[in-house]
Amino acid sequence: MVQRAVKRVFRGVETRDGAGVRLRRVFGFGETEELDPFLLLDAFGATDPRDYLAGFPWHPHRGIETVTYLLEGSVRHGDSLGTSGTIGPGELQWMTAGSGIIHEEMPQRSPRGVYGFQLWVNLPRAEKMRDPAYRGVKAEEVPVVAAPGGSVKVLAGSYGGRIGPVRGVARDPTYLDLCLDPRAGEAPEPAFELEAPEGETAFAFVYEGSLRSAGAGPDGRPTPLAAGDCALFGPGDLARLEAGGGGARLVFARALPLRESVAWRGPIVMNTEEELDLAFREYAAGTFVKKRG
Ligand code: CO
Repeated sequence: MVQRAVKRVFRGVETRDGAGVRLRRVFGFGETEELDPFLLLDAFGATDPRDYLAGFPWHPHRGIETVTYLLEGSVRHGDSLGTSGTIGPGELQWMTAGSGIIHEEMPQRSPRGVYGFQLWVNLPRAEKMRDPAYRGVKAEEVPVVAAPGGSVKVLAGSYGGRIGPVRGVARDPTYLDLCLDPRAGEAPEPAFELEAPEGETAFAFVYEGSLRSAGAGPDGRPTPLAAGDCALFGPGDLARLEAGGGGARLVFARALPLRESVAWRGPIVMNTEEELDLAFREYAAGTFVKKRG
């Protein structure tokens, strides 16, 4: 087994999106080849309602999947398929925009604010114009796997023989929420190992605590990660994570790249500029949504 090195660390940018939701855009600035099929990762949230209540009012998507995973608070969702629902801590919305969906994602007032992630996964050319779909996942549907050195929530894909609740989506990504125990000292404490098969794009985003090392860096030395850092892994079969003294919480994702051309404008990601132009013309003309509920 070849341990993956850390190819690059993304630190992201503090920004606002939607109608003014405070967030850290971890990646999503056009690094599409390196991260393929992942397009964007936002860590959103705040305790001050003024930083999240405005939410993400009605807006379109086409050609991608948006995956919202909540740690704190609640987010109400409604879309042009007629689906609506509210997710709470530990819950997930997996939305396949396909040929087109118009939706709203609205964080609700909550005593401890709202905190979560939105990951965009690109759809392959053959599925960009498929029918849209929405799946809401309850916290109790998410398997929790105890492992030496921590525990893993399996949101999608599999870990330790357990399969996550989101199945049958394009690229079949693995998406995990990890909680690593603090590491008191040096070896022989084993590092936390994660399968990351050769050929897949894999990243880990630390949202709490720190990692003493996410793998060797370009200089061959261990790469430490602080909260807010995201490591993109190089080639290999497994990722070896060493938690820091306070432990670490992180999300980890991996999937096979699409290796197709990417034309991306705002919330719509297609293969060509012509397809983008058509999408925006259709949106202006009111013919964007191909399938309603
Ligand atoms: Co959206």
